[in-house]
Amino acid sequence: GSIGKDGYRHFMEKELHEHPLVIGQTLQRMVDPASRRVFLPDMPFDLATVPRAVITACGSAFYAGMVGRYWLEAIARLPVDIDVASEMRYRNPPLTEGSLGLLISQSGETADTLAALRSLRQKAIHILSVLNVEHSTMARESDSVLGTVAGPEISVASTKAFTAQLTVLACLTIATARARGMLDALAEEELVAALLDLPSRAAEVFTQGAAIRRLAGVVAEARDVLYLGRGSMFPIAMEGALKLKEISYIHAEAYAAGEMKHGPISLIDRTVPIVASVPYTPLFDKTLSNLQEAKARGGRLLVFTDTKGADRVSAIAEDMVVLPHVHDFVAPILQTIPVQMLAYEVAVLKGTDVDQPRNLAKSVTVE
Ligand code: G6P
Repeated sequence: GSIGKDGYRHFMEKELHEHPLVIGQTLQRMVDPASRRVFLPDMPFDLATVPRAVITACGSAFYAGMVGRYWLEAIARLPVDIDVASEMRYRNPPLTEGSLGLLISQSGETADTLAALRSLRQKAIHILSVLNVEHSTMARESDSVLGTVAGPEISVASTKAFTAQLTVLACLTIATARARGMLDALAEEELVAALLDLPSRAAEVFTQGAAIRRLAGVVAEARDVLYLGRGSMFPIAMEGALKLKEISYIHAEAYAAGEMKHGPISLIDRTVPIVASVPYTPLFDKTLSNLQEAKARGGRLLVFTDTKGADRVSAIAEDMVVLPHVHDFVAPILQTIPVQMLAYEVAVLKGTDVDQPRNLAKSVTVE
């Protein structure tokens, strides 16, 4: 049968509301709730001895890969190289035999990602793909597939597939860290508990609709918007900026908050709102001082934070959205939801064709 909007205004809004469900379903595939351990399907290579991972993807899937890089490097101590597929293919990076090619795609049909897969394949490396469409071309051409359980995604702008990709990459990180002796049972339990906690924390994000719409009112008036984040929150800023560009046609740029002073700070004035993702993590103080610098130059700060960061953020922000506080590890997954919701609400205010934005296609099958 055909898929309906179930009373939502757009497929994108419906799919945004599926985040909690999709994160939970994806976890069910990989986590045993009783033992609180991650179990991946058997793969024809050993995560313990893989010398390096090469991550490649396009669009939102690429940003999921960037979060994956932070996790795999910091937690599993696995060296990671990453690039967008349309560049990776032509960079011809030198690769050690036995390396892992990690491809990420909702559709499994994106021409650039598929071409990168085929060129990596020639280098005798293992191809592991994170895919939402199980019977896709990339699924057939991969050595192993880890499925995101997001269901069909109709909105051209990706939403729930992205958090499902992050959920899979989080589980892959835990399994890799354990295999490499970087995670004892207690530490694994702590990370798994943080993941299992996510569906209910994600559901709480929707109580912040009014605050997100307030921010949308400011962003909708702007011609340019600067998104900031640090660490694993930097790719979430990039995802927020991409989503805003795609569906509201407002120009947005994402910067690593610490890099702002090396260039984009010259753009800051009252007309360029700054959207920052700053949950209370070990990078909170550093990011906040970057935001102070922006505020001192007349920047209007619109901040996504959490219950632990709220007091200090409220002292400097023009407006903020307060999410539940979660473990640092999973904070980028939770913080994705409000930046996508913000883009959605701005697009609604602008009256664009939210589900079918101009010039874009759900899966781009030309290189
Ligand atoms: C298109 C869409 C993006 C998407 C990208 C990758 O460009 O507009 O939203 O992230 O393709 O799609 P994939 O199916 O490979 O994840």
